[in-house]
Amino acid sequence: MKDKLESLRKEFTKEIQAVANSLDVEALEVKYLGKKGPVQQLMKFLKDATPEERPKLGKSINDLKIEFSEKINEKLSAFQNKEWEKQLEEEKIDVTIPGRRRFPGAKHLVNKVLDEVIDILIEMGFSVQYGPEIDTDYYNFKALNFAPNHPAMDMQDTFYITDDVLLRTHTSNIQTRFMEGHKPPIRIIAPGRAYRNEDVNARSHVFFHQVEALYVDKGVNFSDLISTMEKFVQELFDPSIEMKFRPSYFPFVEPGMEVDIRCLVCEGVGCPVCKHTGWLEVAGAGMVHPEVLKNGGIDPEEFSGYAWGMGIERLVMLKYGIKDIRIFTENDQRFLRQFV
Ligand code: PHE
Repeated sequence: MKDKLESLRKEFTKEIQAVANSLDVEALEVKYLGKKGPVQQLMKFLKDATPEERPKLGKSINDLKIEFSEKINEKLSAFQNKEWEKQLEEEKIDVTIPGRRRFPGAKHLVNKVLDEVIDILIEMGFSVQYGPEIDTDYYNFKALNFAPNHPAMDMQDTFYITDDVLLRTHTSNIQTRFMEGHKPPIRIIAPGRAYRNEDVNARSHVFFHQVEALYVDKGVNFSDLISTMEKFVQELFDPSIEMKFRPSYFPFVEPGMEVDIRCLVCEGVGCPVCKHTGWLEVAGAGMVHPEVLKNGGIDPEEFSGYAWGMGIERLVMLKYGIKDIRIFTENDQRFLRQFV
């Protein structure tokens, strides 16, 4: 019996010296001190021992058990301390590392330029009005002298919501709406979004911003229009900016024209933004058509006016040398953050 205890002690001592971590120690505890372990087995021999031997034997087995369990606890706490330290070391937080800055968000580049445009025009004497983005085809088309079945009213160009409700295709929907409630002199701008059911490419999008200008008073003439636009564009860009006025047709102006600016993206050499012409169309403009004044309740015999509608994205592209209009709506932070 004594030999048995001795060899068990030897075996245990050898094994406990070889353990590598606290899990091994725990496994060893189960192996030696568990219900089916050797120490428990030894207890069974007690009943075969003589009554004289039994207490002594019982004590030796019990001592062995205590010895094993002490050694196990000792090892276990040693490992646990080490493991704990290691974990602390690994999970150490360096409080001196600078925090990650939260980005509070900022105005979109298009809105920034829009603000600039609005400021310049306010300075020039215009006041700001907002028209609805969802409007009837009366204010978007009919009141603006579009003939029934005009191609612009076609499903291809316009997002219709119902037969006569639509997403405005331009900010010109403000024109007769405002005239209806106001007497000249009228000198307003109407900034906002417009929508067109068109193919998206580098220069055009289904969603864009415009600023409409409308000036109605006695004796407003074409040179007022030209000089005001020139002054505005010079303020926004540079006094040396090159502009070009081309005759064009819009049902709500007569005469009508389109306004081009020398492409600043390619310096006029030709690029995809200016369709390789060196010029970029930025606005439609003209003298308010007598029919439109009439539709707004204004006597065209007494008053005249001019109007223009300018594409804001185009102006932003020119100002910042941006080659693709699609980037404005992609929400790519790498782009947006450059203009914070
Ligand atoms: N509304 C026209 C467009 O979106 C532009 C325009 C406005 C033309 C005012 C003439 C007068 O193309």
